[in-house]
Amino acid sequence: KRVAILISGGGSNMLRLIESMTGDHPARPVLVGANDPGAGGLALAAAQGVPVFATDHRPFGRDRAAFEAELIRQLDAAQPDIVALAGFMRILTPGFTAHYAGRLLNIHPSLLPKYPGLNTHARAIEAGDAEAGASVHEVTSDLDAGPILGQVRVPVLPGDTPEELAARVLVQEHRLYPAVLRRFADGNRARLDLDATLTPTP
Ligand code: GRF
Repeated sequence: KRVAILISGGGSNMLRLIESMTGDHPARPVLVGANDPGAGGLALAAAQGVPVFATDHRPFGRDRAAFEAELIRQLDAAQPDIVALAGFMRILTPGFTAHYAGRLLNIHPSLLPKYPGLNTHARAIEAGDAEAGASVHEVTSDLDAGPILGQVRVPVLPGDTPEELAARVLVQEHRLYPAVLRRFADGNRARLDLDATLTPTP
């Protein structure tokens, strides 16, 4: 299976996905794209020998369709079987999600359906939640609401700042996303619930 990955920033999830696709893994990374030419993850991907592209969304202004048409042109040149969003921070229109229906994944830093959207860790802390975490889901036209393919739960500790909680969750994202991608590439859409308590929380 050919996997393309879209990022906006550092690409730590993207890197773990690339590193996981070796040996008898049914998938290989074929392209990494970013909506920001300055995304640090582009250099990480290139260092791994993965072709990269950047399509800056800013020149397109509010014309999401035109931006996405260029994104699709770039992506489809690599003929991806799966497109994985990893820290990709642009909302995608139904035109894009329909084009990749059934083969578009995303990781979101909350226990969906709780806290779709932004500032998920601050909201969990504010709500006094005992647990937070991350979810990998199929992307549909409803923001952060597609079928959940996997989750990992992480304790919220007394006095946690959003940054401390985000760091604790990110470590588990790096376990969850590769595990879900491998199953998805094998055609297995059964939900995976990872237990974060197996690893010491920093
Ligand atoms: C992560 O919290 C991820 O859940 C969210 O973007 C953040 C940064 O991801 N989607 P990355 O380091 O760029 O992979």
